[in-house]
Amino acid sequence: MTVGANRAEPAGLTFPRNFLWGAATAAYQVEGAVTEDGRGRSIWDTFAHTPGKIAHGDTGDVAVNHYHRFREDVTLMAGLGLPAYRFSVSWPRVLPYGAGPANSRGLDHYDRLVDELLAHGIDPVLTLYHWDLPQKLEDAGGWGDRDTAARFAEFATVVADRLGDRVRWWTTLNEPWCSAFLGYASGVHAPGRTDAALSLRAAHHLLLAHGLGTSALRGVLPGGAQVSVTLNLCAVFPGSRTAAAAEAVRRIDGLANRLFLDPLLRGHYPDDVRQDTAELTDWSFVREGDEAVISVPVDVLGINYYAPTVVDEGAGEPEPSAWPGCANIRFLDVPGPATAMGWPIDAGGLRAVLRRVHEDYGRIPLMVTENGAAFEDSVTGGNGDGAAPVVRDPERIAYLRDHLAVVHEAIESGIDVRGYFVWSLLDNFEWAYGYSKRFGIVHVDYATQRRVCKDSAYWYRDVIRANGVPP
Ligand code: NOJ
Repeated sequence: MTVGANRAEPAGLTFPRNFLWGAATAAYQVEGAVTEDGRGRSIWDTFAHTPGKIAHGDTGDVAVNHYHRFREDVTLMAGLGLPAYRFSVSWPRVLPYGAGPANSRGLDHYDRLVDELLAHGIDPVLTLYHWDLPQKLEDAGGWGDRDTAARFAEFATVVADRLGDRVRWWTTLNEPWCSAFLGYASGVHAPGRTDAALSLRAAHHLLLAHGLGTSALRGVLPGGAQVSVTLNLCAVFPGSRTAAAAEAVRRIDGLANRLFLDPLLRGHYPDDVRQDTAELTDWSFVREGDEAVISVPVDVLGINYYAPTVVDEGAGEPEPSAWPGCANIRFLDVPGPATAMGWPIDAGGLRAVLRRVHEDYGRIPLMVTENGAAFEDSVTGGNGDGAAPVVRDPERIAYLRDHLAVVHEAIESGIDVRGYFVWSLLDNFEWAYGYSKRFGIVHVDYATQRRVCKDSAYWYRDVIRANGVPP
């Protein structure tokens, strides 16, 4: 096994001028207010309200009430000196039925959020699709249906028409791998479908949506706008030196990485992935011209990275699996420290991912749009006893430091990384895990909605202030 080293260098690390520091959230995970101001239902409303789907029966109905508390949260961001905030727009707030007339009250909300950010000198970094498909569109076939891609381009146009004069950073999709394979193959995410062939169709329609959406954005946004897509790229390492392990790496790399990177950046799907999945689908959902649509140039590639993956030959994930056609591939436990998600901690995976994209796909500017870790955080003090509330989270600080050291090293080696966003600004609704996993650099007491900056938030504030990682 060759998982990379993960210790930070002892010296301080200075980042380039203009490096964009930020923190990220996503609409369904933080907003709450799911029935307010004309918002329609999304697949996550339906899924979260389906018994057994989410830990403890949690839902995003209230979440951290960011919809109402965004001003307080922007003040918090300003206090931390955050130069940028990555958030997503809820599609069903803007188009309650996925198509048709826009809901101006939904758009008004994002208008206010953007103005509030700008008034505090914070750059808005807007994601259009962070998994909350309008339920009406799912009822009509969801991402399995080609029309959903066209509806997405309309949504992109509506949002860009309204916010394009003030928002410079645009991302079409967040982690389309998750939307396709967790949503339509393993079914652990909304809409909870378990159909391997359908998940591949969904992946294609998501990519098509990205391409159509990017062209739509280009038609509306002023020059200088930066359009991107965010992928959760996998650092895949072999569990042994065998040929079978190398084959397992090829298969998983194909589905996790090249299935997305190749059409986006090379203009065609990888032949081996088509062949690997030929028993499931004939890929006739890819029509002539689609790959040209998908490969329309982007300005930046967003990368979300959390943990490395180690694979070998063996019994695959129990069905329904998120990995179509990979019944003979085993995901190995990685020894060593792990986060509260059980995800191994190794910044070497981030190094591998950044290098790989740089070496195999050319000089596209990169942005780490998510990186962070869940730990069991708790607040001490602050209960009327005169002591200020504190959250000690040294493991998160160590995690962020190690990963930032890798980003710095990548930049030094000539890889064009433009920015870094911590996941997440706030503790929030962690999808199927509900509120049981805390990724925030700011702690949220879900009963009172009180926000308390964790030590990591103050540490990150100092990093931003110094434009670098202290020794
Ligand atoms: C990636 C997703 O974009 C985000 O929504 C999620 O909360 C984090 N990973 C942590 O799992």
